[in-house]
Amino acid sequence: MSLEVRGLTKSYGQVVVADHIDIELQTGQCLGVIGPNGAGKSSLFHLLTGTVMPDAGAISLDGNELSGLPAHRRARLGVARAFQVPQPFAHLSVFQNALTASSFAAGLHGEAAAAAAQDALRVCGLASAADKLAGALPLLDRKRLEMAKAVAAQPRLLLLDEVAGGLTEREVHEIVDLVQQLKQRYAVIWIEHIAHALHAVADRIMVLHFGRKLLEDSPAKVMDSDIVREIYMGVPANAAA
Ligand SMILES: Nc1ncnc2c1ncn2[C@@H]1O[C@H](COP(=O)(O)OP(=O)(O)OP(=O)(O)O)[C@@H](O)[C@H]1O
Ligand SMILES: [Mg+2]
Repeated sequence: MSLEVRGLTKSYGQVVVADHIDIELQTGQCLGVIGPNGAGKSSLFHLLTGTVMPDAGAISLDGNELSGLPAHRRARLGVARAFQVPQPFAHLSVFQNALTASSFAAGLHGEAAAAAAQDALRVCGLASAADKLAGALPLLDRKRLEMAKAVAAQPRLLLLDEVAGGLTEREVHEIVDLVQQLKQRYAVIWIEHIAHALHAVADRIMVLHFGRKLLEDSPAKVMDSDIVREIYMGVPANAAA
């Protein structure tokens, strides 16, 4: 899988959420995304999945141009997303939730849809919770289910929006292990505020601020950069170390 994003741009009136964003990504790679609240991180995922249309720019997935396609067509071509706030179908079982993704997002039927749902639950550590009501799950398992639904959708590009947010330190490590595994199968873009989690998994991290990519580099270089110190801690970039 090869993703190539060129000049992706979107504004809501005066608010610029994407300002000529370029991305290149392959299967087996994880691109981390950081940036302050309101930087445009989730908006980038809206633009990639097609729930929001860009003002300008191109998104190519294995040579297919996605930018004019509706969300359901992009899902069939392999774009899947775990949302920042899990919203499972609370009155359906965990298995039925995964089945909705394999059926409606991936377009599988019957045995194939059930097998894809089961595989996604197994990969995401939810096999033993398959029959539980999704609404009864604790937060870690709701995050896992959010990821399992994306995996059941048969992605090639997997978009993870703050899947470690709100978890305990031990739980964050479990999510890190899971994303490490998912990275072997897919190209992953992971938005996360938890620096050590991204550091453990991401090959590169990009820094967004007011919709602009300020920096993209290795996790070590990004975390050590003046730009990150400035936008997170208010330390001027030219301040003496
Ligand atoms: N549909 C919309 N109409 C107007 N403004 C919007 C819309 N969607 C998002 N915004 C604004 O765009 C900016 C970027 O929002 P976005 O949700 O992408 O931020 P984020 O980087 O994901 O932040 P967070 O870390 O809080 O999740 C915010 O200022 C937000 O209020
Ligand atoms: Mg967000």
